[in-house]
Amino acid sequence: MKVLVATSKPFAPVAVNGIRQIVEKAGYEFALLEKYTEKSALLKAVADVDALIIRSDIIDNEVFDAAGNLKIVVRAGAGYDNVDLASATAHGVCVMNTPGQNANAVAELVFGLMVYAIRNFYNGTSGIELLGKTLGIHAFGNVGRNVARIAKGFGMDVYAYDAYCPKEAIEAAGVHAVDCVEDLYSKCQVVSLHLPATDETKGSIGKKLVSLMPKKAVLVNTARKEIINEDELIQLMQERDDLKFVTDIQPAAFKKFEEAFPDRYFSTPKKMGAQTSEANVNAGLAAANQIVGFFKDGCTKFMVNR
Ligand code: 3PG
Repeated sequence: MKVLVATSKPFAPVAVNGIRQIVEKAGYEFALLEKYTEKSALLKAVADVDALIIRSDIIDNEVFDAAGNLKIVVRAGAGYDNVDLASATAHGVCVMNTPGQNANAVAELVFGLMVYAIRNFYNGTSGIELLGKTLGIHAFGNVGRNVARIAKGFGMDVYAYDAYCPKEAIEAAGVHAVDCVEDLYSKCQVVSLHLPATDETKGSIGKKLVSLMPKKAVLVNTARKEIINEDELIQLMQERDDLKFVTDIQPAAFKKFEEAFPDRYFSTPKKMGAQTSEANVNAGLAAANQIVGFFKDGCTKFMVNR
């Protein structure tokens, strides 16, 4: 049995070592493809593997076609929009994620971005504070819950909306649940996005919602770029010079954002939310353990293409 870790954005070495140990202890062969830049390298590396551990690496039909022995792909992380699930199912491959394992890392970065924005990108002028401000958490999954926990330490007034999470569950976490998504944007000066990229959510964060936000609003995106309607956001930021946008995912139109809003927009050059040793270890080791559990016990607990 051969397990390949294929990560164009590599894990911390401590995580790679941990994965290797789990794989070898189970009696499997370990292989590593890091920092690859050409898809051809991935296609070649998957040719004889039984299991694959990835991050945001694109696993499409061509990859599945090239991986004749593949039985399981584990996305070491939460979002699996980078994997063609229909193709996986057609090829008889089980796809899993490792929900929650990198959630704290992403949540901490939310506050790094938030403070950077409200302190005017550290340009020396007077900014504002998070204490007493309203925070809206859009989607209350693992990351959203961690954001809520940290926000309380900052003394923020925390609200959340999640189309799939009952209000009672949000309130049980000590967070105000709003009745509808419009309420969240109307009430909150800072909104943090934690939606997955699905057919339903793609392009859903646009003028209609963001224009509801109060003065000196900050929109924080550590989820996926596809959920934002970039044309509408650019138009709105042109109309409203109090609105800031900070993101861990470079927008498709990043050049336009950079040119038009040099002091109201910031993006990390590469997605950094889950890029901590701790998150790499948590997600990477969970992925390795899930592969061992799948082969040894038939465990499919975190399968996402049922
Ligand atoms: C996730 O979905 O888990 C995060 O977006 C992290 O992605 P990454 O592993 O590519 O950094």
